[in-house]
Amino acid sequence: MNKFWNDYPALIEELNGVKSIIKRNIKSRETILEESILPMIESGGKMLRPAFLILASKFGEYDSKKISNLAAVIEMLHMATLIHDDIIDDARLRRGCDTIQYKYGKDYAVYIGDFLFCQCFNMLAKYDYDMKDLRNISKVLTKICMGEITQYNLRYGKNASLRNYIRIISGKTAALFAISFYTGANEAKCDESISNSLGKVGYNAGMAFQIIDDILDYSGNTERLGKSALRDLQKGYYTLPLIYALENDKDGRLKRLLDSESLSSVEIDEIMLLVDKYDGINRAKKVADKYTEKAIERIEKLPNCESKEIIRGSVLKLLNRDY
Ligand code: IPE
Ligand code: IPE
Ligand code: MG
Ligand code: MG
Repeated sequence: MNKFWNDYPALIEELNGVKSIIKRNIKSRETILEESILPMIESGGKMLRPAFLILASKFGEYDSKKISNLAAVIEMLHMATLIHDDIIDDARLRRGCDTIQYKYGKDYAVYIGDFLFCQCFNMLAKYDYDMKDLRNISKVLTKICMGEITQYNLRYGKNASLRNYIRIISGKTAALFAISFYTGANEAKCDESISNSLGKVGYNAGMAFQIIDDILDYSGNTERLGKSALRDLQKGYYTLPLIYALENDKDGRLKRLLDSESLSSVEIDEIMLLVDKYDGINRAKKVADKYTEKAIERIEKLPNCESKEIIRGSVLKLLNRDY
């Protein structure tokens, strides 16, 4: 696993348990499924969503079996979206390894993502989960799907605006973070007010998380990230740093570069320079700070416990990460 949770050995142990559950649930007579998914489990995923689900559940009556299975489901849903996202983005690297599409081709990659989704439903049927959580999980899948489709429809700067950007990332990323926190708490029978509050922590942390991910696409290092930087630009996704930079593009130089047929590496370098020079990175970072502040305000109002401290520390760490 990635070193993100290294300060919390007990949590790492639980996350290893979650990994074992995932491994059990990818076995099938079609051996390519296990063979292709295993490296993705073993190599450097941060396991943020299952960790947050577990941490949120500790605010209530923690039932290890039920919660670990649910945490595994959330991570598998996330993995399935990554596999499909990598097909759309023609990505070469994920978690420091070749993507499933790169290794096995598009057809298998579609099936492997689908298989993970299917296994999630089987796993959700295994315990007596609250119908409300099942409904929320179904809804979140629709939201992720809509977020990705809107992002796709608005490629190459069509209607690029802060408003549309926020809509996209709420759907494709923040919703799953929100539900990870909410579901953990709700399954542990927390008061609705605590589950709601935790859900909002997740939403705001998820928003900040995606903004930082989008900044790292400009400023990050492929090796540290374990996935290729500069993909968003090449795929025509106008994320927040670019949206802000375009507001300062008085002489239209950035726009002209973006409009060129295919981008050479010299042009890409220049775009990166301009995005930074026109304050795109700084302004985007400030928005991520705002969302993190909102998450922290909510966290402070939660009952005191060890989980609260871990959640506070990790939400702050997410903001300052470079991977
Ligand atoms: C990647 O998520 C997809 C985004 C929402 C940006 P993570 O950065 O949590 O991916 P892993 O699980 O650590 O690989
Ligand atoms: C998150 O967005 C994608 C999903 C919701 C699957 P990105 O497209 O930014 O994720 P990365 O950068 O490829 O990990
Ligand atoms: Mg992507
Ligand atoms: Mg990204």
